[in-house]
Formats: sequence, C-alpha cells, structure tokens
Amino acid sequence: MSADLELLRRAQGLLSARDRRGRPAAIGAALKEGGAPGGGRARLTAWVHGVLRHRRSLHTVLGAVARRATKGRDPRHVAALELGAFRLLFGREPLDAVQAELAPLAQGRKPQEHLRRALAEVAAAVADEVPLAPDPARLEDGDDATLPLSRDRAVRFRRPLLGVSHRNLAGRLGVLHSLPDALVAAWIARHGDATAAELCRAANDPPPLFARVQPLRATREQVIAALAAEGVEARALELEHALRLEAGRGAFRRTGPWRRGELSIQDLTAQRVAPLLDPRPGERLLDLCAAPGTKTAALAERARDQAPLLACDRAPARLRKVEQGAARLGLTSITTRVHDGRHVGALADAGPFDAVLVDAPCSNTGVLRRRPEARWRYDLASQRRLARDQAAILATAAALVRPGGRVVYSVCSIEPEEGEALVRAQPGLRLEREELILPSPGGGDGGYLALLAR
Ligand SMILES: C[S@@+](CC[C@H](N)C(=O)[O-])C[C@H]1O[C@@H](n2cnc3c(N)ncnc32)[C@H](O)[C@@H]1O
Repeated sequence: MSADLELLRRAQGLLSARDRRGRPAAIGAALKEGGAPGGGRARLTAWVHGVLRHRRSLHTVLGAVARRATKGRDPRHVAALELGAFRLLFGREPLDAVQAELAPLAQGRKPQEHLRRALAEVAAAVADEVPLAPDPARLEDGDDATLPLSRDRAVRFRRPLLGVSHRNLAGRLGVLHSLPDALVAAWIARHGDATAAELCRAANDPPPLFARVQPLRATREQVIAALAAEGVEARALELEHALRLEAGRGAFRRTGPWRRGELSIQDLTAQRVAPLLDPRPGERLLDLCAAPGTKTAALAERARDQAPLLACDRAPARLRKVEQGAARLGLTSITTRVHDGRHVGALADAGPFDAVLVDAPCSNTGVLRRRPEARWRYDLASQRRLARDQAAILATAAALVRPGGRVVYSVCSIEPEEGEALVRAQPGLRLEREELILPSPGGGDGGYLALLAR
C-alpha cells in the first residue's frame, strides 16, 4: 500500500469512529498517536480536521448534488465521500487526482462508482472561487450559492444549492460555518446576532501557535534569540513569559529551547490561569484535573518550583504526560496521583491546600478552531452531564481548600452553564473575580476563568 493510501485509510478510520453514544469519537489523541506513514502527520491532520470543521457544509453540498449521497450509507463510505468533497471544495484539488486517490477507499465496484460519480457532481457544481466581500454578514443573510472557505475566500456554485435562504439565522450560520443549530442558537440568545456570527467564523480560523517560556530555565529574550538562530520566528506578547511562534506545529519540537525545556506550547488564554491563582513558594497546591499538565507546570514555574503540587487526573495514561512534561521542564515540586475529582475520597488525607486549580473537562466551545470535532459532541444532554461533573469537582476543591484559601475554576468552554452559572451555584466558595474570554482571530482561545475564595 502506498504511503498516501495508508494515510487516507487512517483518515477514513478516524472520521468514521464513533463513541458509545454514536457521536463522532474524540480523536485528538488518536491523531497524535502512532505517527503517520511517510511523515504525513500534517497532511493527515489537515484532512481530518478539515472534514470535521466543515462536515455540515460538505454534507449539504453532497446531499444537494447526489441523490442519497450519504444517507443510510456505511460510515467508512461516508468518510471517503467527505474526504473527497473536502479536497475538491476546500483544497481546490483537481477532480481526476481526487477520484483516483479516493476510489480505493470504497469497498467494491458499485460503491467505487458511487464515490466517483458523487465527487464528479461536486466538482461540476462549482463555478469558481471568489474573494469574500469585506462584509461576510451579507453572505450570512442568505446566499444559497456561496460557501465560505475561510474568512476571505468563498466558493461559488453554478446553482443555489445550499438551502440557507429559507432558514433562520441559527440555521444559516450553522450550514455556512458548519456548526449545530443548537449551539449557534445558544450563542445568538446570549450574545446577539453579530457576536454570534463572529463566534461562528472564529470556529474555523486557523489556530495561532503560542508558547510560554519556562522562566526558571531561560529569559524570554534568550529563547527568542535561540529560536531565531534556528530559523523559528517568535514574538514577545504583553502577557509575561508569552510568545507567539511563527512555525509549523512540528517545527518547534526540533528546536533547542524545546529540547532544553525552556518552553511549553500553551494558548494565551490558558496562560492566564497561573497568574490568577498566583501560587507562592511554600504553599500547598492541588490541581484536580491536571493532564496533560501544561497548567500544572505553569503553576510550578510561578511558585519557583518551591511549592509542593499534587497533580491529579482520573486518566492514568494522560497523567504520565504530566510527569514527562515536568521532567522535560526540570520541575521537581510536582507529584501525581490518579484520582476521580468528583469525590474527595483518599485526598482527604492530603489536604487542606492553600490553592486549588479546577481546569475542568468541558464542551470545548471556546476552542473549536483547535478541536473541530467538539462541535459535533455538543447537545443539551451532554451539557447537563458535563455541568454535573464540573460542579462535583468544584465541590471537591471547596472541601479541600483551607479557610481563606483560593480556588481557580477554568474551562475552555464559553457556555454559561459551565461557567458563570456553575460557580455561583457552588456553596462554600465566594466569587472574587471572573472573566469570559471569547476567541479572537490571531488572539487567544475562548474560555472562562474564575477566582474563588473559601
Ligand atoms: C481540560 S483538561 C485539563 C487540561 C490541563 N489542566 C492542562 O492544562 O494541561 C481536563 C482533564 O480532566 C480530566 N478529567 C475528566 N474527568 C475527571 C474527573 N472526574 N476527575 C479528574 N479528572 C478528570 C481529563 O482526563 C482531562 O485530562
């Protein structure tokens, strides 16, 4: 099997995987694991993320051009169609090449014919690629023939096939930016039409790369100079220790500063957590949802590696990443323990703590540009389940922090039921400060942070 075919088969497998509830599986870890044939991880990620990011638009186009294009078909066949349509529409690749590469993914003569025909119909439906008008809202008013490819490019179809003009705003934005109506409707209700539309566009922005300097190992200026010497451009940002990197995702891992543990990859919004909890040398610290440990390490660095920090997570394999990260950064104040944070359990013997971080599992609606599949896991039942777990973990923090101690609660969701509403309902903790951050192009991710006191 050629490396390309092997890569496509992996993409097909990832895209057709489902979790216990039949929703698209969380594939972040699976994408990173096991490498990629022919060094093709960047391509694999681009295809899989591309399809996940634009899945609803792809299905809308496929459904309009080919009868029974996806309905009732085997998930692996659907994944092959999605990959083909993505490469035609968003990659603007030639039909012949896409058909030839994708055909082996279909099982048997008839499915292969179906795949070839459906992809030919997609290609034939496209008139041309056009720049997006400066005001994307005009398109979102209901243009059935224009699909945004990015913030500044769109594809025009020969006929009005998107079926958005008869929908309400949530439905129009949902199809054009490929998001579930329920999520868009929640954003419209909370933020109004214009901000909701901007959140939809932000969900498909290319994510910028930010880093945090390990200040016990190097200064920011030293790291910038060392990276520049290796051809990686880095810019200091307003936030202490923060850098913006202009490099491919893989490139920074080969640099001296990364290998010497002078740098961690961390989004700007996530970098605000450690300063908010502000741990100091000599304090006893607890991180209840620590893995993979980026914020744990930031806490240890801020406390000059002189505050014993117990890092817990319920996933043992992920907890090992906390240990590996601490070792790479030369931090010795961190110890790890597998623990389900919804219960105090054995942690009762380890407390009380001066400061506790709850960086809770969440719906990820503030980081859709990085976790494109999260949008397809959003629904009201999952929101209720998540909020129940988040409240239970925060209650554990309340029980384990000393009177007068501090708790930071953070999530990379921007939904109120996982943020503002949740912290206000927590007995025993007083809200001192909170911030809802919406994702911004070129800036930090969306998220919610709160400082609470016992
Ligand atoms: C948002 S991530 C934490 C990211 C981490 N703080 C960092 O900055 O690298 C949430 C973590 O919570 C863990 N988790 C989920 N449910 C949990 C529970 N009931 N108790 C403890 N950890 C849990 C997940 O395994 C995941 O590692």
